[in-house]
Amino acid sequence: VIEIPLELGARRYSITVGHGASRLLPDLLGGLAGRPALVVSDRRVWSLHGRRLGPSLRRLGAREPVLLPGGETHKSWQTLGALLGTLMRSGLRRDGLLIAVGGGVVGDVAGLAAALYMRGIDWVVVPTTLLAMVDSAIGGKVGVNHARSKNAAGAFHQPRAVVADPELLATLPDRQLRSGAYEILKCGVIGDRALVRSLVEGPASPRDWSRPALENAIASAIRLKAEVVERDERERDLRRVLNLGHTIGHALEAVTRYRRFTHGEAVGWGLLGAAWLARERGLLSDANCEAITSATDRLGPRPSLAGLSPEPLLAAIARDKKVRTGRLTFVLPTAIGRVRVVEDVERAEARRALRALTAVDRSKRPRTR
Ligand SMILES: NC(=O)c1ccc[n+]([C@@H]2O[C@H](COP(=O)([O-])OP(=O)(O)OC[C@H]3O[C@@H](n4cnc5c(N)ncnc54)[C@H](O)[C@@H]3O)[C@@H](O)[C@H]2O)c1
Ligand SMILES: [Zn+2]
Repeated sequence: VIEIPLELGARRYSITVGHGASRLLPDLLGGLAGRPALVVSDRRVWSLHGRRLGPSLRRLGAREPVLLPGGETHKSWQTLGALLGTLMRSGLRRDGLLIAVGGGVVGDVAGLAAALYMRGIDWVVVPTTLLAMVDSAIGGKVGVNHARSKNAAGAFHQPRAVVADPELLATLPDRQLRSGAYEILKCGVIGDRALVRSLVEGPASPRDWSRPALENAIASAIRLKAEVVERDERERDLRRVLNLGHTIGHALEAVTRYRRFTHGEAVGWGLLGAAWLARERGLLSDANCEAITSATDRLGPRPSLAGLSPEPLLAAIARDKKVRTGRLTFVLPTAIGRVRVVEDVERAEARRALRALTAVDRSKRPRTR
């Protein structure tokens, strides 16, 4: 197994990556074992993996899991409220431990419940999607959506441990796997050339990556995010670099009401848009722009941009909470493994980038005869 420390002084914790790691929870959690524990998961994850995880969780002292309804629409106040009610009825006290087993939705809701219950109890995460392993489970951001706004309410509440077991990914649909792979590529473009090289040289589909290749890709992405979080836990400045591909990505998700793209697919499109913008500004060479484009496309097909015009996307970008001034903020790649936060992107520039994306997309779609 690979162990990655997240250094946050007294709140330091370890992120473990390894095939089979989820069956070794009692050993990996060391000092946390033996405390009253409650597992929170979703129905789908538990029906697929409950049997495998049960014994190791029971050895930890956990009782029957609390199963949340799955899916982004349930990352809500209602789910959070119901979970807090269950925690109260369970009699869990301040010394209790909450164990989140699932994708980003379970992690975000359970983490926020852990942050709020009795003003904060300890929690650990066992992410079960690739996206959760490399992104949502790392860094302590937790939250729920409001009907009108994604991640409208949340907190920073670091877990005490993260255990990422790639064996759990065997049951994950291809699209979900690719979704995580786009985030891994994003991490490489932000700051890990070797990671990008390994993605380009290995099999295209994450399904075909060897065990060590998968573990290494996950660990490299986590290392990058962990380093950024260590230096800027509360997203004052540096942590913004992690939003590479997310300015356009979030807008694509919002205008399609989170139905057309998975998060990673939207980030894949956003990565291309950022590379194009950077090249137009003379910040990125043609060769590097082309390398980022082909590395992105290699990960597989993304749902098309058909029917999406620039104006609603621009409006969505401007509404995004990450916008600080009248002009738009973008994270732009300046090389493979290096990015810069640019705060003065004109709407017209962004519009051209969006047009370029739709043109690329159209040229790739098979013509209807
Ligand atoms: N907190 C953060 O810093 C952060 C960062 C990135 C994303 N997020 C959040 O993460 C969420 C997306 O996470 P996600 O992509 O993991 O989605 P998800 O949690 O909705 O999981 C996707 C689907 O896969 C199922 N699933 C989970 N594990 C499985 C497995 N091993 N096999 C088969 N099916 C499985 C789930 O039941 C669900 O239906 C979003 O809400 C996003 O806002 C948070
Ligand atoms: Zn993301």
